[in-house]
Amino acid sequence: MRKTVIATALIFFTAITPQLVSAHGGASGIVKERMDLMDDMKGAVKKVAAIFKGDIEHNPDTIRDAALIIRDHSGDAMTKLFPTDSLSGHSEATPAIWQEWQRFQKLSDRQVKLAQGLYNAADNKGESSQGHMMGSQSMMGSASMMGSDSMIRGDEKMLHMDDPDYLGTMPASMVFKMLTDNCSSCHERYRKEM
Ligand code: HEC
Repeated sequence: MRKTVIATALIFFTAITPQLVSAHGGASGIVKERMDLMDDMKGAVKKVAAIFKGDIEHNPDTIRDAALIIRDHSGDAMTKLFPTDSLSGHSEATPAIWQEWQRFQKLSDRQVKLAQGLYNAADNKGESSQGHMMGSQSMMGSASMMGSDSMIRGDEKMLHMDDPDYLGTMPASMVFKMLTDNCSSCHERYRKEM
């Protein structure tokens, strides 16, 4: 389905405005802006994922750079690209965004904290989350995989869970998992697969 859309858009646009042809199947305006924002975050996530998959060595600077990109693309920077009922044929956004605007906003705001937390945790190699991580499969899912120990140490800790300072004491891989779970939580309800 998506392929067809892209193919059609390619045929259509290459004739007129080649520079508009991107991975977004010809989206334009604010919809394209937010797709670009999301894609930047995806790129950042991939770089960090490569570390925790063991493809490349743990490099705190790589993690910090990615965390800053994600942090600065979240919160208001993200939600301002979702003006009321801004849907188009190319958009994967769902109308539920504007029916549940506060929840949507919360997920975006929470991502600021999680990304700042990842920044703070960048140096923490930690073994405890080895094996929980990675592969876009597990990134998309199961909260049960999350932070086996630290999740169940009691309410006290749970309350601080989203506090960037607290997150900064956790293994970076674990904070990263929380962050990517947050992407998924939002997509689950507010982004439809095309
Ligand atoms: C608050 C909600 C929310 C959060 C948090 C969120 N996204 Fe999204 N994302 C969306 C919505 C809604 C769309 C669909 C936008 C559209 O097509 O108009 C989307 C689309 C995307 C796309 C497809 C872009 C394209 O080119 O079509 C990617 C990739 C993506 N998100 C990555 C991420 C990553 C990685 C994270 C976490 C670091 C993340 N998103 C966090 C709501 C969110």
